[in-house]
Amino acid sequence: MTTDAPALLPILYVPDPRLRAKAKPVEPNDPRIPALAERMLATMYKAPGIGLAAPQVGELLRLVVVDVHPEEKPVPMVLVNPEIVAASTELATREEGCLSLPNQFAEVTRPARVKVRWTDLTGARKEVEADGLLAACLQHEIDHLNGVLFVDHISALKRNMLLRKLAKELKAKARD
Ligand code: NI
Repeated sequence: MTTDAPALLPILYVPDPRLRAKAKPVEPNDPRIPALAERMLATMYKAPGIGLAAPQVGELLRLVVVDVHPEEKPVPMVLVNPEIVAASTELATREEGCLSLPNQFAEVTRPARVKVRWTDLTGARKEVEADGLLAACLQHEIDHLNGVLFVDHISALKRNMLLRKLAKELKAKARD
């Protein structure tokens, strides 16, 4: 690590109430965003994870970072005010996890393809039609901006089981 590597940010865990808040839109030219995005990317790669939303580091702003190729050449995406503008009726199920629910995984069903629009760090409007892992990841991260977690998409029975397991593991970790 070089001396000018961006400082990592602490990731909030469930049940931190900030993970349930609705994030505010980022104002155009907000001077905090480039440095925050850089620190979020560094935090995501270190975790390691494939996506991180600003509320997960306690910033209630509509900002997301994603890289679904972390094992290969990095392809970082920074999405300011991302929005799902279209979703397929066809669904897809894949296993999801979340840095705010460490070591917890569940099969989540979502639209298989989504069209997402956002602004990049230069203020340019961007759009992607995503499928596969990127589609699931973008939906998962945009959910975070609305206080929604992947466990909200599974049955109450599975959710309660997973949340109890998480609480137990985090308590054990705090004791270590
Ligand atoms: Ni997550």
